[in-house]
Amino acid sequence: MRQHGTWQGDGIFYGADYNPEQWPEEVWAEDVALMRRAGVDLVSVGIFSWALLEPTPGRYEFGWLDRALDVLHDGGINVDLATATASPPPWLAHRHPETLPRTADGTVLWPGGRQAYCPSSPVFRERSLALVEAVAGRYAEHPAVVMWHISNELGCHNVHCYCDVSAEAFRRWLRERYGDLDTLNAAWGTTFWSQRYDDWAEINPPRSAPTFANPTQQLDFLRFSSDEQRAQLRAEREVLARLVRQPVTTNFMIGTGIKYLDYHSWASDVDVVSNDHYLTAADPLSHLGLALAADHTRGVAGGDPWLLMEHSTSAVNWQPRNVAKAPGQLRRNSLAHVARGADGVLFFQWRASRAGAEKFHSALVPHAGPDTKVFREVCQLGADLKALAEVRGSRVDAEVAILFDWEAWWGVELDSHPSVDVTYADRLRALHGALWRAGVTTDVVHPSADLSGYQLVLVPTLYLVRDADAEALRRYVDGGGTALVTYFSGIVDEHDHIRLGGYPGAFRDLLGVRTEEFFPLREGERVRLDDGATADVWTEWLHPEGAEVLASYADGPLPGVAALTRHRVGRGTAWYVGTRLDEAATDRLVARLLAEAGARPPVAAPTGVEVVRRRAGDRSWLFVINHTDAEVRLDVTGTELLGGARCTGELRVPAGEVAVVREGHVGAVPLARPTATA
Ligand code: GLA
Repeated sequence: MRQHGTWQGDGIFYGADYNPEQWPEEVWAEDVALMRRAGVDLVSVGIFSWALLEPTPGRYEFGWLDRALDVLHDGGINVDLATATASPPPWLAHRHPETLPRTADGTVLWPGGRQAYCPSSPVFRERSLALVEAVAGRYAEHPAVVMWHISNELGCHNVHCYCDVSAEAFRRWLRERYGDLDTLNAAWGTTFWSQRYDDWAEINPPRSAPTFANPTQQLDFLRFSSDEQRAQLRAEREVLARLVRQPVTTNFMIGTGIKYLDYHSWASDVDVVSNDHYLTAADPLSHLGLALAADHTRGVAGGDPWLLMEHSTSAVNWQPRNVAKAPGQLRRNSLAHVARGADGVLFFQWRASRAGAEKFHSALVPHAGPDTKVFREVCQLGADLKALAEVRGSRVDAEVAILFDWEAWWGVELDSHPSVDVTYADRLRALHGALWRAGVTTDVVHPSADLSGYQLVLVPTLYLVRDADAEALRRYVDGGGTALVTYFSGIVDEHDHIRLGGYPGAFRDLLGVRTEEFFPLREGERVRLDDGATADVWTEWLHPEGAEVLASYADGPLPGVAALTRHRVGRGTAWYVGTRLDEAATDRLVARLLAEAGARPPVAAPTGVEVVRRRAGDRSWLFVINHTDAEVRLDVTGTELLGGARCTGELRVPAGEVAVVREGHVGAVPLARPTATA
């Protein structure tokens, strides 16, 4: 595994994607002047430049990029240089139409947007690696370049390709995985519906079929597709490893609904875990989604600091209604990412485009220019991040973990299941949201992660689980941990085969329960529990087998049947909830679990005030983000870094504002606070 955490500069990186090729060169000097005014010190360059860098096959034109990098370097701006392979030029598909991706029903996805390539195409691989070689060879020693940016959001638009080239690659992947056809037939359960394969050549991706495709075939195709994208990342990294010495990254898309890339398996391929995060603008509580994405990115990074490669200064262009950010929201969003472990805050993009599909996407420099709310807030944020330089490299305190596995997500949302209302994100968000409201910071980690440091582990909808991971949870509880498992967990093994003997299969003994039959509810149907809670979507006929019953159904299809249980195992306890509790009941359950496990917020704060602690050795910093419309006063002692004030037992944070306190060290030396210059 490559080591994360050695990539930072002197402080918290600040910047954006910068696309100088979209502007006349006269604009570049103004760009650099404005970057300096804003405190920007890192820009990602060349992300979508392949067609300019290699206008015809094998003929490279680097002149404009030479000049752009020099202008940036002269201005003191560092560069995260792209390998520029994110989107091939039109000549690739024109000369090699077989590089175009196809959907499950055979539709060709043509160039004209971006990322129109088959991820398994050997032609694409060869041409893209030749470009990486050329770019890396030319700029390896350029003094502006501090980081390399492989491709861009690998698999964002082309993760699943069903063409013949992909079919061949899928067969190779399957041979590697299973060795022989008997093993594949057993794993896929092909005795069902006359699906037995007699020759590898008979196997295809799960293309459009008359009815439900084999679920294990679907699951393996999803694994294969994530691995094919990862193979591009690794192939580019190998070229870079030969030619450059700077750290290497690529931007993940954790927490924006992108489902099909297993980033837990990719993290070891990069030196810097980077993430892109965009708010769901229609959601008034979008800062909860942000916190979840950041906590998950940190989990993927193994707890190390990570880089926020992209977010937006205001509206995006690709949602149905692109709501602009309210004054102050940009600052709260950015500093929430830093609170949760980001050591850099970058945006898409520096200057708003004049042309192209993203011309209505916000930027640091809007169409209206620098005399704007957005650019003033950009300058303010630059000053804030400078004041937080000392936080760089510290880690986030978290006593609670939520287990997350992309394969479980893929598995639980396959077709022909008991209820379409059981989705993976649902309980994940519900439990993370309850912890957020309780003020408790949570790591979102893979089930194979080391759980020993956590007071409480929550396991939402872990439908697919491997034996070793189920056993690790049992050992965690046995050793004194507290765990909660929610319904439709532990159901299948890694082949999507049911674990027999009663649900929830892999967790039955740990939880001390046995479910004999699922009773999913009708759309909109609600049931009541005898502790006053309500629930919907799911109930199940559960028998306690050693577990204590904490609540049962008062009505619905299963009156009197247990809905919430607790089981003592060794020195710990394992809780199970067999239904989808309403939000208030989920909050009460999480509060009980926190109390039992002894996990607490960093400081007591009203709901809606986000408080997170970062720590390095004996130093710690408390981030306080007030999402409410009233001033709050918290019991905190230390030096507030954004305003330069000291506080002794009382920190005041006005409505909508952010404070960051270096705890404890109230020395005599006055704090020099950089000021915004906009
Ligand atoms: C992604 C891409 C960027 C841009 C933004 C727009 O994050 O990486 O190139 O398209 O979305 O939000």
